[in-house]
Amino acid sequence: MGEMYDNSKHLEDTFTESNLSEYLLQAQYAELVELKNAIDQIQKALSRNISLLDIWVWDARIVKRLSWIREIREILEQYHGIDISQNCVDETNRVVEDLWLQHKVKTRLLDASHLDELNDTYDLIITTRFTAGNFYPRNFSFENFISWSFDLSVNDKFTQIFAHAYNKLNAWWEIIIGSIYVDNVWTREKQEDSYRNFWWNVITGEGDSFTASDAGWWSQRFTEQRVRDYLSFIPEEKISFIPLDTYDYAMMVRIKK
Ligand SMILES: C[S@@+](CC[C@H](N)C(=O)[O-])C[C@H]1O[C@@H](n2cnc3c(N)ncnc32)[C@H](O)[C@@H]1O
Repeated sequence: MGEMYDNSKHLEDTFTESNLSEYLLQAQYAELVELKNAIDQIQKALSRNISLLDIWVWDARIVKRLSWIREIREILEQYHGIDISQNCVDETNRVVEDLWLQHKVKTRLLDASHLDELNDTYDLIITTRFTAGNFYPRNFSFENFISWSFDLSVNDKFTQIFAHAYNKLNAWWEIIIGSIYVDNVWTREKQEDSYRNFWWNVITGEGDSFTASDAGWWSQRFTEQRVRDYLSFIPEEKISFIPLDTYDYAMMVRIKK
């Protein structure tokens, strides 16, 4: 199975705001507000401008949103982005040129599982818009999946990616998992509605803490404990959770070094 975002139909579906549910859209706005707060807090604590790594830069959505706000653009000294899809890297480079941001924004084609190959370290590492929930364990098989049967108490890929990210963080600063779905029945139903809205065939149900389609799309829901279990190499007091709404749909995770 190729990369979902190298499929132009998939890009068209999920790049188009009018295709997204109001729950998803408002989670994105809430995530952005919290992200700007965090950037401001970090800059004030450091008393200097900051370097940022965006894991899964996609179509430069966050590059655009942050750089269009002059006060935030000025704080971001260096903005590096990686993505596994050439389509997304090309689109980001195009946007960066249009915005004349080549001096601060650099993009690289890289699988997040190989973050250890990056030479730089960062003050802030972000991954936004539910993407952290797209990483399914290496032993998961779409072809052989039977609902209720898959044990998610361990997720080797999620843990490895964030362990590498933690190593790339300058001492004292932060990883921000911008948004993940909260695990409950109402969120599951909303995710399933979104999948069906894209005409994706849902293969999961009430016994699963993730939603998947037969075409290879996968989105996990989380409890706070599950995040702590996956990140057990990070001291508990370094991880905090910020609800992004009042109805247990999405939350942000802030991880300090
Ligand atoms: C939902 S989009 C990201 C959204 C973006 N961060 C935003 O806030 O708009 C998911 C992105 O993750 C990328 N991706 C998926 N698996 C990856 C991996 N293993 N390493 C790097 N990027 C990956 C996809 O190509 C896609 O661009």
